[in-house]
Amino acid sequence: MFKIDSLKGRDLTALSDLSQSEFAELLESALEIKKASKLGIRPELLKQKTLAMIFEKPSLRTRSTFDIGMYQLGGYSILLDQKGINLGVRETIKDVAHNLERWYDGIMARTFAHSTIIELAKEADIPVINGLSDLTHPCQLMADYLTMKEEFGELKGLKVAFVGDGNNMANSHINAAVLAGTELTIACPEGYEPDMEIVKNARAQGANIKIDHGLKDAVLGADVLYTDVWVSMGQEEEAKARKKAFKDYTITPDWFELLSDRGIFMHDLPAHYGEECVQETVYHEQSRVFPQAENRLHAQKAVLYQTMS
Ligand code: CP
Ligand code: NVA
Repeated sequence: MFKIDSLKGRDLTALSDLSQSEFAELLESALEIKKASKLGIRPELLKQKTLAMIFEKPSLRTRSTFDIGMYQLGGYSILLDQKGINLGVRETIKDVAHNLERWYDGIMARTFAHSTIIELAKEADIPVINGLSDLTHPCQLMADYLTMKEEFGELKGLKVAFVGDGNNMANSHINAAVLAGTELTIACPEGYEPDMEIVKNARAQGANIKIDHGLKDAVLGADVLYTDVWVSMGQEEEAKARKKAFKDYTITPDWFELLSDRGIFMHDLPAHYGEECVQETVYHEQSRVFPQAENRLHAQKAVLYQTMS
């Protein structure tokens, strides 16, 4: 399996940590690892290595795929849930980081505050991988762009419509558009725009990012129609106001008719049916939702291998 030398020992706090060529090479690495794995070839690229998995929030996909990924790479992972370690309360983030670096070869963390990921990365001298924060979800986009690469071959110039909340997923889509040269339109209600600093930085790097407040222009001619929940983990108290603000943003299969003739539907999951989409979209022939979920495993194995060995 080929190595990307510049990624050895590096953190992945956001996709903006990567250069365009590193992102492209990581996708190639994921493809190589996936193809071999499908043939039953699973070299122990992280033999004897250990990963600490910190979860301040629930997870199905992230937890399963990091755990299975480490196992398939010949390493071992240990779950440190919030009840157990109470990060930042039982002891400081800094102290936790300086303990973990003594035992483990890498840390994967899912946190509320993005600053927790940044502090872990700053303090620990082992790679820190963001498994979702309130600001970004880079591993999800690695898997999504792997799925898009498999679907379309070429990423540059693809038209992506992200419909819904300007949340961690929207922010990560912006970072991915910078790295892959996709054309991204985000359709969100007023007041729910993505992080404007991330938008500004992306545009400064030449990315084609549009923010729209209606669905139609965003979806028309798009190759990828992507949506995510209206109420992210930690925003439960805002649920009522959010459901009202987003009421015109539900994706049904009818919207697929406006897509390009090769258009697909994507969602990072979990889905809140009756809100951002209906069940028919996820199980539609144009849906690539479950290939995305599968690709979490392959994409993250590439991230783990390239950063931890
Ligand atoms: N998409 C995703 O990150 O899923 P989980 O929250 O289940 O990990
Ligand atoms: N925006 C969602 C993504 C879940 C994978 C959340 O943060 O809850």
